[in-house]
Amino acid sequence: SKPAQHQRVEAPQHSKCAVYFPEFLIYSQSLQSTRSKTNYSQVIKELFSVIPGEERYRDAGPSRCRTCAVVGNSGNLLGSYYGPVIDNHDFVFRMNKAPVQGYEKDVGSRTTHRIMYPESATHLDNNTHLVLLPFKTLDIQWVTSALTDGSIKRTWFKVIDQLQANKDKVMVMHPAFMHYVHNAWLHIKSRRSYPSTGFLVLIFAMHICDEVNVFGFGANSKGTWHHYFEKTPKSFKRTGKHSGGIECETILELHKRRLIDLYTGW
Ligand code: C5P
Repeated sequence: SKPAQHQRVEAPQHSKCAVYFPEFLIYSQSLQSTRSKTNYSQVIKELFSVIPGEERYRDAGPSRCRTCAVVGNSGNLLGSYYGPVIDNHDFVFRMNKAPVQGYEKDVGSRTTHRIMYPESATHLDNNTHLVLLPFKTLDIQWVTSALTDGSIKRTWFKVIDQLQANKDKVMVMHPAFMHYVHNAWLHIKSRRSYPSTGFLVLIFAMHICDEVNVFGFGANSKGTWHHYFEKTPKSFKRTGKHSGGIECETILELHKRRLIDLYTGW
C-alpha cells in the first residue's frame, strides 16, 4: 500500500504516468503561491551547494540538558526585566527583525538562532544561526542568492539581496515540519491559515531542547497585542493568516502541563 504521507496527483500533460508528490511539498507550495515554475530538486541542490547539509541537535540523552528561551515579539516584554533570565539559556531564539539594542534589560542581548523569511530578514553576526522558514520555494532560492550573488531582489516586495550571515550556520526548517505543526498541533483544516512564526519556533524548540521557556507571546496586561519595539504601540489583529486562538490555547495548555514555562511579563 502507498505511504500515508503521499498523495496522488495528476501528472503534467506531457507525462503518461501519475506521479506521487510528498504531501508536504503540496502543502508548502500552497501556502504562498507564486507564479514562477521551479524545479524543487534543483533549488534544493543549489541550496546545499552553499549551506552545510549536516544533521544538528540529534544528541538528546541523559547527559544533555539544553535550556532554550523562545523570545516572541510581544509588547508584554516591555518593563519585564527578563533580559538576564533570557540570556541565561543555552539557546536564545529570536524572530524576524526584532531588535535587541536598546531593549537589553527586558529582552536580553544574546541571540543563538534568528528565525526569519525573506520579507522579515535582518543582518546577523557571525555567531548566530539563521533559521529560514520557507513559505514558498522562492524563499529557498532567496537564501541561496542572498548568501552568494544577490540576484534575487524582490519577492512580494523589495527584500535584502545580500545578507550578512554565517553560511555555515544557516539552517532551513523543513516544509514537512511546518506541515506537521499545522496538522498535528493546530489541527487546522484550511491552508488559508497556517502557524505563526512564534508557534513554529516554540514547537521546534520543544523538539531540540530539554527545557523550553517562552517569553514575548500574547497580549500585555491591558489586552493589547503589539510589538515591543514599536515606538507608538498600535494593536494589530492578532490572528491575521494565523490561527491565533488555537495557538494561544495550545500554549496555555502546554504551560499548564509544565511542558513549557510561559513568562507573560505581568
Ligand atoms: O509579529 P512577529 O511575527 O514578528 O512576531 C513574532 C512572533 O511573536 C509571532 O509569530 C507570535 O507568535 C509572537 N507574538 C505574540 N504576541 C504579540 C506579538 C508577537 O505572541 N503581541
